[in-house]
Amino acid sequence: MEIIEQLNWRYATKAMNGKRIPQEKIGRILEAARLAPSSNGLQPFEIIVISNQELKEKIRPAAFDQQQVTGCSHLLVFAAWDRYTPERIDGFITHTAKERGGDPERLERQRQSLLNNFGRMDEDGGYAHAARQAYLSLGVTIVAAAAEGVDGTPMEGFDPEQLDALLGLRGRGLRSTVIIALGYRDTEKDWLVNLKKVRKHKEQFVTELN
Ligand SMILES: Cc1cc2nc3c(=O)[nH]c(=O)nc-3n(C[C@H](O)[C@H](O)[C@H](O)COP(=O)(O)O)c2cc1C
Repeated sequence: MEIIEQLNWRYATKAMNGKRIPQEKIGRILEAARLAPSSNGLQPFEIIVISNQELKEKIRPAAFDQQQVTGCSHLLVFAAWDRYTPERIDGFITHTAKERGGDPERLERQRQSLLNNFGRMDEDGGYAHAARQAYLSLGVTIVAAAAEGVDGTPMEGFDPEQLDALLGLRGRGLRSTVIIALGYRDTEKDWLVNLKKVRKHKEQFVTELN
């Protein structure tokens, strides 16, 4: 399938059939998520991958009882940094130096610039910025899943505080931001499966300045 076909094929599945996604497909979807760009390359979020059915059952009430949470094969939780800290920025610089090498003076300038830009954000501003990076990766994940013929329902319909508590995220300096249920549509039970995809018309969506 070409990308436009894949994006037309996918939809925010409301009922999933519990079938398990092969490991190599999940691996490729997660790799796509990891390769998503982020501001300054900081990747200020992690992904928690939940395939344990008992845990999914526990999460479902915190997600307004949405069926996809237990009907999916893998539930991905995008958990963003709760704030930018000097330690996190140092960690990024150290990692970059190890992976790529580079001129120590240049790296130090980069570190100072990151500290200036991000270190002084207040907690709300820092989290909001980090969350936006997580959403970008979510977008890539949605496309990668479609390319693998895997259904994915992005979801904000959950209580972040409850989910944070269930997964012990706050203690790790993380906050659940958005989740995606990955699995396979239940064509018998999903009311949305045969409905037309609705999008703005191109004229309402794109302004071309030639
Ligand atoms: C950030 C975000 C949060 C969403 N939250 C939910 C959700 O909690 N439950 C749900 O069933 N769909 C959720 N959706 C799916 C949207 O309703 C859906 O993507 C939109 O209506 C477009 O339809 P389509 O994805 O089926 O093409 C969410 C989508 C996004 C991007």
